Amino acid sequence: MTSGATPAPAVAGLPFTAPYLLAPMEGVTEPCFRELVLARNGPDDLGGVFTEFARVVDHPLPVAHLRRHLGPARFPQPVGIQLMGSDLDALARSVEHAFAAGAPIVDLNFGCPAKGALRTCAGSALLRDPAAVERLVRCAADAAGARPVSAKIRAGYDDDRLLEDLARAAEQGGARLLTVHCRTRREGYRPEVDWTRLARAAAAVGIPVCGNGGARTRADLERMRRETGCAFAMAGQGALADPWIFSGRAASPAEAGAFLLEYAELLRARGGFGERGVAGRVKQLLNHWTAGRGPGGGWMGRDRKAWLRVRDAGELLGRIARATGARRSGAAEAPPAQRAPSAAATAASTSSAGA
Ligand SMILES: Cc1cc2nc3c(=O)[nH]c(=O)nc-3n(C[C@H](O)[C@H](O)[C@H](O)COP(=O)(O)O)c2cc1C
Repeated sequence: MTSGATPAPAVAGLPFTAPYLLAPMEGVTEPCFRELVLARNGPDDLGGVFTEFARVVDHPLPVAHLRRHLGPARFPQPVGIQLMGSDLDALARSVEHAFAAGAPIVDLNFGCPAKGALRTCAGSALLRDPAAVERLVRCAADAAGARPVSAKIRAGYDDDRLLEDLARAAEQGGARLLTVHCRTRREGYRPEVDWTRLARAAAAVGIPVCGNGGARTRADLERMRRETGCAFAMAGQGALADPWIFSGRAASPAEAGAFLLEYAELLRARGGFGERGVAGRVKQLLNHWTAGRGPGGGWMGRDRKAWLRVRDAGELLGRIARATGARRSGAAEAPPAQRAPSAAATAASTSSAGA
């Protein structure tokens, strides 16, 4: 994709390099996955990424913990830290710590539908209460001072009646960017999406809005901006299904295989993932790479389920290498300035970051 094909909106105070963003996804967008996506989508195509949410309960999250969320490698694009919580004091201190850890922007999660979030009145539980959203955003924005805070909401809790109120609450609280996932909490992750809700949110506020929900291709992301008036567009599951989504480039089988091999290499090098965990994360991606349609085309053959049955990481990776012709990690794909550090350097730097 040529640079400037879809120019980044000139938005004062936001750190993004292009109008397309990678969504925060718990259990997916930890540093290893993010770095592989960043290495394959340059700053003209992918404007920024977010960590999976860090849960704030009743104590501020330590700087070292937040630094681990950011990961050791640096790219031209910013990595925002997403926080989720409803304890005002703990949230304010965690915002300060997130900036101290190096985040250029802090995002607040008002969309998580998990039972734990609902029980503790965080995440999507707050979609019933615009005043609470405003209070929490204001508390975070006050703690941030001149640095940007953003908010990410769903279109509503059970329905979309409060959408404009929620959008205005985030703006009045001081959010510099509002991301709207166009499904309500009740709608979960169903395939049908209603982008008119994104247009409604964008029309309701003066701050830039980032549309989100259902984009599967680069063309979808561009259309989302065009049809809704959103300044930014964000992809979540579309990036799981195709990590090259932002560049719009079709990966070869060897590149697709190299992505998975390098992913496993990074997960192993950084620790915290046993062999079963590594196999699980790789299969999580394979699960999205449906036969014939995932990156690299039909190298999985017709029996995708057979791939998902393999438990042993070594066996799975060997099978991927044979099927795709990938021989080593895909680090060589990234231009040198963006290349993630070697696994060994990464491991060393992670442990010092966590100290
Ligand atoms: C596995 C998974 C984990 C997610 N975790 C988060 C999260 O940590 N924070 C958040 O704001 N949204 C989270 N989401 C929601 C996504 O950020 C995004 O809003 C949603 O997937 C809709 O976009 P999409 O249709 O492009 O996937 C998650 C979604 C998925 C599929």
